[in-house]
Amino acid sequence: MNTIPFLSPLLVAVSLIVAGAGAGDETTTCPGAPSMTVESACRNVSHTQAMYDACKGALAGVPNPMSDHDATVYALAAARGAMASADATVVAANERVTYNGSLSGEEKGAYEGCVEAYAAAEHAMGAVLNKLGAFSFGGGLADDYMSGLLAVESCRDRVIKLPASPLYAMVLVDRNKVGLALFLGKLLGI
Ligand SMILES: *[C@@H]1O[C@H](CO)[C@@H](O)[C@H](O)[C@H]1NC(C)=O
Ligand SMILES: *[C@@H]1O[C@H](CO)[C@@H](O)[C@H](O)[C@H]1NC(C)=O
Repeated sequence: MNTIPFLSPLLVAVSLIVAGAGAGDETTTCPGAPSMTVESACRNVSHTQAMYDACKGALAGVPNPMSDHDATVYALAAARGAMASADATVVAANERVTYNGSLSGEEKGAYEGCVEAYAAAEHAMGAVLNKLGAFSFGGGLADDYMSGLLAVESCRDRVIKLPASPLYAMVLVDRNKVGLALFLGKLLGI
């Protein structure tokens, strides 16, 4: 289950819409979803200490972490965190393309490609948030996570070729967050 080491993505607008749906509050109960503490959820999905720490960080905002919660709460929190992280990366990439006249053609091409890839990633993670919020765990949810992951990885594969890009670290974080979101989503049996 750890063949996809770790990941992440999405848009603030979509996050806000989904947050408004109220599916992420601690009273969320989704028929058939397992219930557990934050600790159990993070132990369940983590194969390394780094991943466990990232999981605890991603779920730090969940109220009453010592109590059992529907795992949907954790999946939603992680997906939203991934989306927010991706948003920040897109802003950074856009700023470079727009304001930095010293970018090489290679850098410009990579960043523009990343902005495009992240649009796809955020679209996919938006679909994840909508499906989680509607407790719709079939209907291509697993595919949506994978689309988000692969889109972020396509950006990573571009920036990794640049001599030294400040964006690379951000993209790696995004990928890990999408991966974590996927693993937490798997608690729902997807
Ligand atoms: C992880 O959660 C799944 C789904 O609830 C469960 O079947 C599995 O036993 C758990 N694994 C661990 C290591 O806790
Ligand atoms: C603009 O891009 C160049 C080339 O990548 C880089 O060396 C420089 O630090 C960038 N400037 C700013 C303000 O980010």
